[in-house]
Amino acid sequence: MSKKFYITTPIYYPSASPHLGHAYCTTMCDVIARGKKLRGFETFFLTGLDEHGEKIQKNAAANGVTPQEFVDDVAKRFLTLWDAMKIENDDFIRTTQPRHVETVQKIFSRMVEQGDIYLSTYTGWYCVHEESYWTETQVGEEHLCPECGRPVEKKDEEAYFFNCGKYVEPLLAYYDANPLFITPESRKNEMINTFIKPGLQDLCVSRTSFSWGVPVLENEKHVVYVWLDALTNYITALGYLQPDDSNFKKFWLDPECEIVHVIGADINRFHTIYWPMFLESLGLRKPNRVFVHGLLMMKDGKMSKSRGNTISAYPLIERYGVDAVRYYLVSEVPFGENGTFTPEQFVLRINLDLANNLGNLLNRTVSMIEKYYGGTIPAFPGDLDDIDVEVSDLLRKTIVAYETLNDNLQVTEAYVKVMELVGRANKYIEEKAPWALAKDPSKDKELASVMSHLAQVLYAAGLLLSPILVEKSPEIFRSLGLEKGVYEDAAKFGCLDGKTVHKGAQLFPRLDGEAEIKAIAEMMAGPKEKVAA
Ligand code: ME8
Repeated sequence: MSKKFYITTPIYYPSASPHLGHAYCTTMCDVIARGKKLRGFETFFLTGLDEHGEKIQKNAAANGVTPQEFVDDVAKRFLTLWDAMKIENDDFIRTTQPRHVETVQKIFSRMVEQGDIYLSTYTGWYCVHEESYWTETQVGEEHLCPECGRPVEKKDEEAYFFNCGKYVEPLLAYYDANPLFITPESRKNEMINTFIKPGLQDLCVSRTSFSWGVPVLENEKHVVYVWLDALTNYITALGYLQPDDSNFKKFWLDPECEIVHVIGADINRFHTIYWPMFLESLGLRKPNRVFVHGLLMMKDGKMSKSRGNTISAYPLIERYGVDAVRYYLVSEVPFGENGTFTPEQFVLRINLDLANNLGNLLNRTVSMIEKYYGGTIPAFPGDLDDIDVEVSDLLRKTIVAYETLNDNLQVTEAYVKVMELVGRANKYIEEKAPWALAKDPSKDKELASVMSHLAQVLYAAGLLLSPILVEKSPEIFRSLGLEKGVYEDAAKFGCLDGKTVHKGAQLFPRLDGEAEIKAIAEMMAGPKEKVAA
């Protein structure tokens, strides 16, 4: 039986068009999911949109359209971007879909019946932008949202509450038993020290001051609080409490399936405190991991719609290809840390890693096999000396490290390892000087060894990079005379014997630094949108 893996992105607010920051998180999850599929895991990758809430209702009103019209329009923009980024998600949940709305109502009713949700009065502070409640102490004398710094609103309304007190102990026990549940570790300490230790108040889970939400069946004045509505997407999309719940059984109920939520630090509290409590209340297992990734920033701070300092992925994709953009996102920002987008780094990464390192290895290898062997990859004669042994050992070790690092969600590090292998192979060419071996008929075997080692490294690199380089990896396979890549063959020296190489177009043409830095700077000042026809 194959191993199972379920990964999710946050469901984004369709309050405006997506930017490179959203593309960052979704691309990382796509790369992780593709990596698992490559290795034979049965994988489910979910993304979607969080379409209810006061912020959406206000934005729709400001645009003179209904909330549904508003979110339908923005949803198209997200889907167009995912298409352009070659995101291979298995489902796209929108919280306005009947499958979701009906299940949220069932969940709410069940929690009311169990006594976990009760009716009372809410008096306190609310940040519409974060759709988040705060206490008097948290907003301080200035009455500003501790998360985004915007002014909060005073609320005094009848509301339903979720009984958090009942679930604090089980939550802390879960943290203890699952040290990797919240990673990086610092994010766990933040939750315990800032929110749990000072005393967790019961969470307000309904609103009456606006109507754009899932109606509470028990009391028609209320709509379900957007976070209770949103977090449950991770199970409603799988069919929880619905006639077809096969995916729910397969990916949530099976304790062997690893469940990973990838999120930004801004929404950690909801995913690692309230979500496990809701699941406990429903008698369901909790996710294995909530991985808190870093932010993609611009030189002047966090990239965000409200700051207006975003950059669109489209002009980058159009000019450099989707693989270059995907590669940049994975390699530039170590997963879990913040990173800054700069045109200089973008150009440097593509030139150093993709054009000089990978592109060059392919180009040189194919040219030499054409020149010395008329295009046929020579039979693998085995490792002939210590350098051959070193290269083939490194290839095998790289695969092991790649799998372990990816399983630990150290995604950036996993791909750095692959690039190091490619770099080692380029150095191997210099050390072996095949042009000299080719001149000496007694060195036939040595030359064949070099060519077959190089071809195998390229094959392995093409396979290991295929979750990122969704267009170029197949080109690498074609260049090596293969129709497609087979993961199990990555370290099978000799599997390419007799294949005919093909010289394709340059994999990644080298960029003219100065001109491209200028071009990207212009993109940053240019339009951010693209809408599906
Ligand atoms: O919070 N860099 O939605 P949201 C990297 N609907 N990632 C970024 C980013 C940036 N500059 N900007 C945004 C919500 N993100 C809720 C989530 S989940 C049940 C509900 C990513 O549209 C990052 O993952 O504000 C962040 O957590 C998420 O988008 C917030 O998206």
